[in-house]
Amino acid sequence: MHFYRIFLLLCFFMAQSSVQSQVQPDAKLSNESLYRPLFHFTPNQGWMNDPNGMVFLNGQYHLFFQHYPDGTIWGPMHWGQATSKNLVQWKEQPIALYPDSIGMIFSGSAVLDKDNTSGLGRGGIAPLVAIFTQHNMSGEKAGRTDFQNQSIAYSLDEGKTWTKYAGNPVLKTPNIKDFRDPKVIWHAPTQKWIMSLAVADHVEFYSAPNLINWTKESEIGKNLFAHGGVWECPDLLQINKNGKTIWVLLVSMNPGGPNGGSATQYIVGDFDGHAFKPYSTDIKWMDYGPDNYAGVTFSNVGDRNILIGWMSNWNYANVVPTDKWRSAMTVPRELSLIEQPIYKNGIVNAKLTDMLLASNPVKELNAAFKKTLSKESIRTEKTFSLMSPANTIPNRIDLTTGSLYSFEIIFSNAFNEKLIIGYDSAKIQYYIDRSQAGIANFNEGFASVAVAPRLSGGIYLNWSILIDKTSIELFADGGRSVMTSLFFPTHPYTNCIMQSKNGLPLVSLDLFSYK
Ligand code: FRU
Repeated sequence: MHFYRIFLLLCFFMAQSSVQSQVQPDAKLSNESLYRPLFHFTPNQGWMNDPNGMVFLNGQYHLFFQHYPDGTIWGPMHWGQATSKNLVQWKEQPIALYPDSIGMIFSGSAVLDKDNTSGLGRGGIAPLVAIFTQHNMSGEKAGRTDFQNQSIAYSLDEGKTWTKYAGNPVLKTPNIKDFRDPKVIWHAPTQKWIMSLAVADHVEFYSAPNLINWTKESEIGKNLFAHGGVWECPDLLQINKNGKTIWVLLVSMNPGGPNGGSATQYIVGDFDGHAFKPYSTDIKWMDYGPDNYAGVTFSNVGDRNILIGWMSNWNYANVVPTDKWRSAMTVPRELSLIEQPIYKNGIVNAKLTDMLLASNPVKELNAAFKKTLSKESIRTEKTFSLMSPANTIPNRIDLTTGSLYSFEIIFSNAFNEKLIIGYDSAKIQYYIDRSQAGIANFNEGFASVAVAPRLSGGIYLNWSILIDKTSIELFADGGRSVMTSLFFPTHPYTNCIMQSKNGLPLVSLDLFSYK
């Protein structure tokens, strides 16, 4: 009898959960129009993961990416390519690099070799040089340990065509399986190229005068920082802070992210051309959300540090419900450093200062949105509409609260699907709740709530949120706490409200639509 009841109960719950997932995607809308983002880069078709080789040249931003053109799941990696003049609209270009007998083309970077240190330039044309990992699948399958090596290729026509260097690979693995993702910068004080390389559980730095002959300088990370998974896609960048150069090392890691699976940590410190000295060994995350991975910055953009990340997570990237393509990139983000007292759980330690990496959408994105509503010094009702006057949901919401009370913004449709983003004043944290946002049965952990600590002691909150068809990006407190999250509603969201217990004072509220 007892078991029979449990059986009935189980049937009831199963029926309930299948009711939830029985909502079918909008039959009138194709998968394409339901899920193809408005302002995030996606490949026309096929699989995409990490951004690679991002470089600016003669008015064009080049975005290469891990690409399998013949299928929508990860496969033999190529470098796809897209270009943009404004960092918003991207035009996909023919594939830049194809796998060859050395291996598939894994992640890496590209630089403009202005002084032709490599000797690969011709007739006064400075070469664009791509530095990437070649992954030899048969070597891996045969159980060898030498299947990841670094190669280079060059272009003399602004990235349109590429020639692989005859002497590849230029940096061979010392028989370590995970030996990949070279990110190269020019280090002016030592007049050398510096390569950061992900080596299993640490980063190694190599130097070369010419992009070809690499010498190991040092390593960092063993037994320090977060180690829930393998380290990948490092990026060493410098940020000018009040006339002083401060160095930041980005390291992606999978799994072990703060909200499960893939995520990117950062380390702030000094770099002298040989070794990286961290200011602290605290674990810090560039983005707390589940969907910003393998992000690196553009080369040849002067003082700016412009990052693009892969907007997905290895936990489910291969099974998200898009038909023709898989994955999108984050919007380009400007990185900066903020020095402030240390805050832990809302408590200030005024004696110690902390250096935080802030991310914010690049200013170029402003031109892509039109303001549909702008208000100052208002008080919201407990339930307050955030619909734009044309009765559409906004694509961007900027707001500054006049209090630190809890609140939520809820995007929803008529099919009981809702995406919630909020601030919890008791826990002093932000959250994105996609547990009821739409289709989630493709992955066990997808229907989840991601949280991020508030890292500012400011007495007001400020938020900028970007909402596209399947993604939300939160930039809170000037970019100190950032969260990126995917969601897949069966029907587009048609309503947007703000909710709070007693209404909320707002210093300002601006709503925008994508143009
Ligand atoms: C990161 C990564 C890299 C590798 C590439 C392969 O997402 O695993 O380490 O080079 O993807 O596609």
